[in-house]
Amino acid sequence: MSQLFSPLKIKDVTFKNRIGVASMCQYSSIDGLANDWHRVHIGSLAVGGAGLIMAEASAITPEGRITPGCAGIWNDQQVEALQPITAFMTKHGAVPGMQIAHAGRKASAAIPWEGGHHLKNEEGGWDIIGPGAEPFDDDGVRLWKTPSQMTLENILETQTAFVEAAKRTLAAGYQLVEIHGAHGYLLHSFFSPLVNNRDDQYGGSLENRARMMLETTAKVREVWPENLPLAVRLSATDWDDAGLSVEDNIQMAKWLKEAGVDIVDCSGGGASPVSRSSIGNKTAMQPAIAGEVRQHADIMTMAVGGITEPQQAEEIIASGQADIALLAREMIRNPNWPYMAAKTLGVDVKKVVPAHKAFFVG
Ligand SMILES: Cc1cc2nc3c(=O)[nH]c(=O)nc-3n(C[C@H](O)[C@H](O)[C@H](O)COP(=O)(O)O)c2cc1C
Repeated sequence: MSQLFSPLKIKDVTFKNRIGVASMCQYSSIDGLANDWHRVHIGSLAVGGAGLIMAEASAITPEGRITPGCAGIWNDQQVEALQPITAFMTKHGAVPGMQIAHAGRKASAAIPWEGGHHLKNEEGGWDIIGPGAEPFDDDGVRLWKTPSQMTLENILETQTAFVEAAKRTLAAGYQLVEIHGAHGYLLHSFFSPLVNNRDDQYGGSLENRARMMLETTAKVREVWPENLPLAVRLSATDWDDAGLSVEDNIQMAKWLKEAGVDIVDCSGGGASPVSRSSIGNKTAMQPAIAGEVRQHADIMTMAVGGITEPQQAEEIIASGQADIALLAREMIRNPNWPYMAAKTLGVDVKKVVPAHKAFFVG
């Protein structure tokens, strides 16, 4: 009996299996709008059999986008463009999840295959903000913009934008909302001592650095329906002795649980140039960290990083490391991965993919 293919219920939402598609920026929007690319990309994943499909990081304000091509959830036109996509996912048995995000000092970048460096304003970039006024990098080669330090008023405005984004997420038809608190983007950059050098109530001690994430989460919980799951993605380690440890993140997960979070998505790294999961393939170590967070903070987790094989995903769930196994790059390779995993693990594919597929290749 496969644990990976057993249903999971969180609040009033039932996931048909424990396989999720991790958030993946598509860099294909204009003005943050979903278009044909997103309809086809998400559509193909929706009929591939995953129980959960996370939308790409969707910016709560135009300035919160990583690149000019990133998705947005800051206006009603964006909601309308997303509605048919969530309806399609729901019709074919995948729970639609949204990731609401602000890129902070990593915003205003070129899309990856055009270099990923910061864009000058005259190249289509914009002014950026962060907990402090230090650039992400200073390699002397590429442009790294200096953010302006957020005032208390900026902090309040940003928290309100997260709340408005959560309301729009609901209107767009999503059943799970995830606050992006990882990868060096705004909320993580407040939490990480590698970035935050403030001397007010949002900087200094662990409690103070956690305040931005926790206040934002509590405010989102107030408007996100009690019967629907709320997730937060953390960089569960900074991969740097001077940064956040797993223990710091276990403490954060406990606080998030008190703030009404149902499940913590355990990613890693991104706060500084050296703090990257891709260095030394640390990504593959993340599922074990999800297990530590799950055990010590007593909260459901999603594991992500280097999951490619059905048996590997099965063991992550069966051993109690996580409640959902998220795959990103492997789903690019093969949007039918859940179907293939079901075949490998001897699971009836009729419970996994629509009849359009199962009838012919079951
Ligand atoms: C093309 C691409 C886009 C990504 N965009 C996001 C994103 O929007 N939000 C996010 O939290 N992580 C993003 N990630 C990270 C993935 O969600 C995932 O954590 C990472 O790729 C490790 O999982 P994997 O080993 O299965 O690829 C992205 C990764 C890729 C490859």
